[in-house]
Amino acid sequence: MSNHSLLILPGDGIGPEVMAQVRRIIDWFGANRGVSFDVSEDLVGGAAYDAHGVPLHDDTMAKAQEADAVLLGAVGGPAYDDLDFSVKPERGLLRLRKEMDLFSNLRPAQCFDALADFSSLKKELIAGLDIMIVRELTSGVYFGEPRGIFEENGERYGINTQRYTESEIERAARSAFELAMRRNKKVCSMEKANVMESGILWREVVTRVSADYPEVELSHMYADNGAMQLVRAPKQFDVILTDNLFGDILSDCAAMLTGSLGMLPSASLGAPMENGRPKAMYEPVHGSAPDITGQGKANPIACTLSFAMALRYSFDQGAEADRLEAAVEKVLSDGVRTADLLGEEGVDPVSTSGMGDAILAALDASI
Ligand code: IPM
Ligand code: MG
Repeated sequence: MSNHSLLILPGDGIGPEVMAQVRRIIDWFGANRGVSFDVSEDLVGGAAYDAHGVPLHDDTMAKAQEADAVLLGAVGGPAYDDLDFSVKPERGLLRLRKEMDLFSNLRPAQCFDALADFSSLKKELIAGLDIMIVRELTSGVYFGEPRGIFEENGERYGINTQRYTESEIERAARSAFELAMRRNKKVCSMEKANVMESGILWREVVTRVSADYPEVELSHMYADNGAMQLVRAPKQFDVILTDNLFGDILSDCAAMLTGSLGMLPSASLGAPMENGRPKAMYEPVHGSAPDITGQGKANPIACTLSFAMALRYSFDQGAEADRLEAAVEKVLSDGVRTADLLGEEGVDPVSTSGMGDAILAALDASI
């Protein structure tokens, strides 16, 4: 028994495939570094729906609340497209985020040197890129009431509500400023204060919180301009703070700047638990990729780096997180590529497990 409990939820599509490689990596840390985990595995998303008729069983929710960290693969897929909204795979993920109260979603967009040519932008615009998006994850239009599809005058209408309280904005802002203090001390907050009252309040609260962080340079940007600036000159940013919906969109945009969605991890953090570590869930930014499911093509790096974030933020193993990230960098600079990263002449792709093998070999070489 280890005192580190880790709940693994592989989910759907390529989730189980990439997670299988991460399980090997987790075992490697137990066998070689004395960093072992009490790992349990359960179902989420379509996989949970198939077994239980709901995208997240109450028992799984309870296990997630107890775990030191949750590592999730991906949810969703075409088989579930016609399900009732209330039991769609995505509802399982949103329930985890909401009930664990994981308000601060960290989405790094980092460009690995070896991959600078993969971006759709010019190499000089993205080489060395290192942005952290802090996306508020438990509120906003994803959860606001009223919501639903209703009928009026013989016509249906759909409604969702963007709602933010001051305290919700404040805690997300604090997490962004705290992170900026450990990085390059810049926060750019993005909303639409020109058209939305929630944006006006957002700007006001973020400005107020910034008074507690005088060393951090705060700027504000309308989110549409933010999207434009991200593709025009991404290196101007350090930490980007934004709401749930804008964060969803801007993080996909920022992720793709780095060449492949298959590379990027994320951490969703909540309030500190009794042990002082934040309640946390880690997951790749990519989705379940039904188009390549079951073909051994998926890139396990995003999920691997999500585990590295778990080592760093949940288990106080910063040096081991560095080791794992360095192993990934080594593999990439050695030219090992999964199919999503092709483009160079004469390079044959490795399979999902081939990438797992290469990362494990780099880890072996690191000790
Ligand atoms: C994400 C995803 C989710 C979101 C979906 C799967 C519910 O796009 O994590 O970015 O919209 O938040
Ligand atoms: Mg998204």
